[in-house]
Amino acid sequence: KKISIAIDGPAAAGKSTVAKRLAEALSYVYIDTGAMYRALTYCALQRGVDVHNEKQLMNVLHDTYIELKPSPSGQLVFANGENVTEAIRTNDVTNNVSYVAKHPAVREEMVKRQRELGQHGGVVMDGRDIGTHVLPHAEVKIFLLASVEERAKRRHEENVLRGIPSDFEQLKEEIARRDQIDSERAVAPLRKAEDAIEIDTTSLSIDEVVDRIMCIVQE
Ligand code: C5P
Repeated sequence: KKISIAIDGPAAAGKSTVAKRLAEALSYVYIDTGAMYRALTYCALQRGVDVHNEKQLMNVLHDTYIELKPSPSGQLVFANGENVTEAIRTNDVTNNVSYVAKHPAVREEMVKRQRELGQHGGVVMDGRDIGTHVLPHAEVKIFLLASVEERAKRRHEENVLRGIPSDFEQLKEEIARRDQIDSERAVAPLRKAEDAIEIDTTSLSIDEVVDRIMCIVQE
């Protein structure tokens, strides 16, 4: 039977890497819900929309068809047919996305789209509110954690590898700031679901994390 797997946790805890690997191993569909909030943020910034204006954001969202497509080189993200895979990872988008994701109407519409994508099971969905709100009946729920130092270090090393300018201290601040906004918002804040299994990845490799979750899935 194809089940649903929810992976939640703070920023840069390795959720997408782990979720992608699990989806591959199980031949499931990987759904990156953060990419959907990022795509909306990108489109809003492009149109000069204020990220604190819910009404304007909703206009953009209703006009924007967001697609997540698997490809051999990784997941591709499209907004109204435009490939925004790279564009949604810029600092500008990263530093604004949590303001966009605070608005209740934005979340309501995103959750609706995410549930549609997950309705047939056979999905690994990662985000902040998957186990608590989007897929409360998911058979497997994982909450991934790591210290903020470790998360900033991993992001920094990733940036250096990709040749992207990177400042460790600044990354640490940005990650902590995003976690704070995500956990303090009124609607669907970042929380571990009561029935989620918490895994602290601070001193674990990706393989170890994936192996642990595969064991849980196969139980
Ligand atoms: O996962 P990622 O870091 O790409 O997510 C970007 C942002 O989108 C998060 O910091 C959060 O503000 C928002 N988000 C959310 N709920 C989700 C996924 C992401 O609020 N399910």
